[in-house]
Amino acid sequence: ESEVWTLLRLFFFNILLLHTCSASPPNFVLLFADDLGFGDLGCYGHPSSLTPNLDRLAEDGLRFTDFYCTSPVCSPSRASLLTGRYQTRSGVYPGVLYPGSKGGLPLNETTIAEVLKPLGYATAAMGKWHLGVGANGTFLPTKQGFDHYLGIPYSHDMGPCHNLTCFPPDVKCFGNCDVGVVTVPLMHNEVIKQQPVNFLDLERAYSDFATDFITASAKKKQPFFLYYPSHHTHYPQYAGPGAAGRTLRGPFGDALLELDNTIGQLMITLEKTGVIGNTLVLFTSDNGPELMRMSRGGNAGPMRCGKGTTYEGGMREPAIAYWKGTIGPGVTHEMASTLDILPTIASLAGAKLPPVMLDGVDMTDILLNQGQSKREAMMFYPTDPNEMFGLFALRLGKYKAHFYTRGASHSGTIPDPDCSPIAALKAHDPPLLFDLEADPSEHYPLPSEGDPDLEAVLERIKKIKEQFESSMVFGESQISKGTDRDLEPCCNPTCSPKPSCCHC
Ligand SMILES: *[C@@H]1O[C@H](CO)[C@@H](O)[C@H](O)[C@H]1NC(C)=O
Ligand SMILES: *[C@@H]1O[C@H](CO)[C@@H](O)[C@H](O)[C@H]1NC(C)=O
Ligand SMILES: *[C@@H]1O[C@H](CO)[C@@H](O)[C@H](O)[C@H]1NC(C)=O
Repeated sequence: ESEVWTLLRLFFFNILLLHTCSASPPNFVLLFADDLGFGDLGCYGHPSSLTPNLDRLAEDGLRFTDFYCTSPVCSPSRASLLTGRYQTRSGVYPGVLYPGSKGGLPLNETTIAEVLKPLGYATAAMGKWHLGVGANGTFLPTKQGFDHYLGIPYSHDMGPCHNLTCFPPDVKCFGNCDVGVVTVPLMHNEVIKQQPVNFLDLERAYSDFATDFITASAKKKQPFFLYYPSHHTHYPQYAGPGAAGRTLRGPFGDALLELDNTIGQLMITLEKTGVIGNTLVLFTSDNGPELMRMSRGGNAGPMRCGKGTTYEGGMREPAIAYWKGTIGPGVTHEMASTLDILPTIASLAGAKLPPVMLDGVDMTDILLNQGQSKREAMMFYPTDPNEMFGLFALRLGKYKAHFYTRGASHSGTIPDPDCSPIAALKAHDPPLLFDLEADPSEHYPLPSEGDPDLEAVLERIKKIKEQFESSMVFGESQISKGTDRDLEPCCNPTCSPKPSCCHC
């Protein structure tokens, strides 16, 4: 009888083993909002935002309170997200890329999509790329490991918008956006489908694209990676009929609701295709709110200043990790970053890390076990990093030291004078030191001089800064390569006069 039991046990053990080994690697959905602040989502305390789908992901998943992007503006932040490296290494600085930029994220950088490709993943990106277009689409997502792409390859204000419709039935976009360049195109892979893009129909197009991609991958039992850097809630706000006029927060709230609706649609598709239990969904944002837009911009909650600054409001972001049946509900105060997403995805998929200097650390233990972060420190570079100034700030544990501070036009219009562009570059020696647990708003610098404990903290911060900076090799600036009008995407390349004739 005992032999029978042994055989049976062996049999079941083998089945279990077989099952474990043949379980397909997880799918990844990476959602990236634009200029969305720490205080903008309902689940982060905003009283009049309507974000039921994101709130549900936060409630059933893991919500981060101490999650950082790497730059207070778009392009550098995206470069770090996709490579797990500070933007200074890849050269995506200073500021952001333009429609006619000659540079882009260098093709020898390894993106998350390229990390997953060798394992047989299907990969797609939709939305705001903003890592370059270049001559003949040199830098488009399809050149960086993504099988499919649908989207506007840069910010949707980087083209004249005063004649475009942002809300139904025909409410024109607020402001002029960038004049003197081509109107913003909608690209499918490397081809322009629409110019200018139809904002009212854009989110539906993304939803359909995502549904098709997920459904096709699930049908083939192929693991997939979907990257959705949304245009929402960057200026100018827009929303189609499903969200326009439906919130108490005006154009910003409607745009945010539209993003939330798309995420809801995505979750339904994951559910319907039966892959929801094998899919990690991550959500965060590229940088802090653009406070200069006032009610049409985002909200940093209790964090100081916003976009363009290295205060918490510029770089601390809402972040949610959801994985049905695998990530338990909770809130984590562990320090984590967009840099950590590439190593985490690689670890969960069993993929090889790229053979380069990575700045990200694996945060699997935070996700799966609410464990501790392997991240010791977070570095804060300004919009225009250079080797002479180096880091503007460094966070170690609960302490953050500012070596330099500066306001930004993106964060103007609020009463705090340190946030506005009038606040010129200021060096701090000793550095301004804050305890972010007691004072997340960075209002009360700690008097470190004469306090041995705080002096020891500062010493340690300085040592980490020195070590980090001595290992930092600045990549050639891609953005300083400048622009060329002929590189602006035009649906009718031989037409004249440009840019107004680029209209199809
Ligand atoms: C990419 O190529 C440039 C130029 O040759 C080089 O400086 C850089 O280190 C390379 N980057 C990587 C990640 O290999
Ligand atoms: C783009 O490709 C076409 C055809 O291959 C070529 O004629 C053209 O010179 C290229 N343009 C640039 C800017 O490299
Ligand atoms: C905007 O529309 C008006 C009226 O149709 C037209 O006169 C003007 O040239 C348009 N401007 C641009 C930049 O397209």
